[in-house]
Amino acid sequence: MAQVVNFKNTGLRGVTVADTKVSFIDGEKGVLIYRGYRIEDLAEHSTFTEVAHLLLNGFLPGRELLEDFEKQIREARALPEYMIESFRKWPKDAKPMDVLQASVPLLAMADPDLSDESREANFRMALRLIARFPAVVAAWHRTRNGLDPLPPDPSLSHSANFLWQLHGKKPDEEAARYLDICLILHADHTFNASTFACREVVSTRAHIYAGVAAGIGALSGSLHGGANAEVMKMLVELEFEKDIPGWVKARLESGDRVMGMGHAVYKTMDPRAKYLKQMAQKLGEKTGQRWHELSSQIEQAGLDEFRRRGKTEIQPNVDFYSAPVYHMMGIPRDLMTPIFAISRVSGWCSHIIEEKFAEAQEKPQLYRPQAEYVGQYCGLMGCEYEPMEERDK
Ligand SMILES: CC(C)(COP(=O)(O)OP(=O)(O)OC[C@H]1O[C@@H](n2cnc3c(N)ncnc32)[C@H](O)[C@@H]1OP(=O)(O)O)[C@@H](O)C(=O)NCCC(=O)NCCS
Repeated sequence: MAQVVNFKNTGLRGVTVADTKVSFIDGEKGVLIYRGYRIEDLAEHSTFTEVAHLLLNGFLPGRELLEDFEKQIREARALPEYMIESFRKWPKDAKPMDVLQASVPLLAMADPDLSDESREANFRMALRLIARFPAVVAAWHRTRNGLDPLPPDPSLSHSANFLWQLHGKKPDEEAARYLDICLILHADHTFNASTFACREVVSTRAHIYAGVAAGIGALSGSLHGGANAEVMKMLVELEFEKDIPGWVKARLESGDRVMGMGHAVYKTMDPRAKYLKQMAQKLGEKTGQRWHELSSQIEQAGLDEFRRRGKTEIQPNVDFYSAPVYHMMGIPRDLMTPIFAISRVSGWCSHIIEEKFAEAQEKPQLYRPQAEYVGQYCGLMGCEYEPMEERDK
């Protein structure tokens, strides 16, 4: 019989709930590894599609294999026509994360593999999800602005095609590469809240689309993926602020959080933030915008204030510098979290397949933790049921 361990109200911090071969974090040293490879090396030398292949298959592909993988993604980019038609009827002010989440079952309905529970079928569905997420975000953005969605361009890479479908302009190579690096850095992060949600849902044998829809819901929260949009809101509010340290101090004194700082696992600077900080600086130099300087000032003020409070572990996370990076790339604030999802869907699908096919553990197992009941209790016979007439007296 399994050993019973009691942990309560700790947000499962420090509790190991499963084995995984997909990614690894050393929170003390600030290291993130996908399938054995450091993210710095992948960001430097790889592409998002190559990383998606790595996450899904567990190994870096050779040229021919990668070309075949990319071809399959390119060919799967188009959305079913009924989705575009329904987008036109949806409220224009709908939140893009809600639209993305609502689109997942719409994509499922058109998937010929939905009832096939084999690993191969799940892999094909994962590919389609990765291919179509950018198309959903771009099509929604254009539709809400009264524009027609654009067809995908098969000559363009994954990131370049997204920017084309979003802005209707072919991006320069550098812009597409910057976005590709952002997608690499966000692709996976062990048992974060959204990945755990995906795995928990498919542990019931629900299909991959049901798992991914749950992941989007979890990612949308401001303590998780929604933090990048909150960081951008903070930056815009502070654009002309003269006293940044004073603002940070007042915020912490009022019990509010500085968005984009702190992490449940990292006790030092998030390695993705280090990389994105450099990118924000380069983009600032290229575009003449000063968001990098402002972010650095807030970072420093935050570090100083947290140090004074004995919380040296609260340092910038991935969302702190991705926000100014996306902003300087012309990405609207409310699309920042959907872009996180465009990347993370590759990690979610890898974890879903690992969970469904027990690739890191002995056998698939339904997640079923317990809760201690602390509500009304009148003994095992139950409280006396009072008829409505009695209650209304
Ligand atoms: C991500 C996050 C939830 C991780 O938190 P955690 O360290 O696991 O645990 P908690 O949320 O319980 O925080 C621990 C303490 O640090 C404080 N803290 C953590 N991050 C903080 C932040 N960004 N600003 C102010 N205080 C913060 C909490 O208020 C709490 O203080 P308390 O012990 O006095 O109540 C948290 O750092 C946070 O809310 N950050 C801002 C949101 C964000 O950027 N999210 C994206 C994460 S990638």
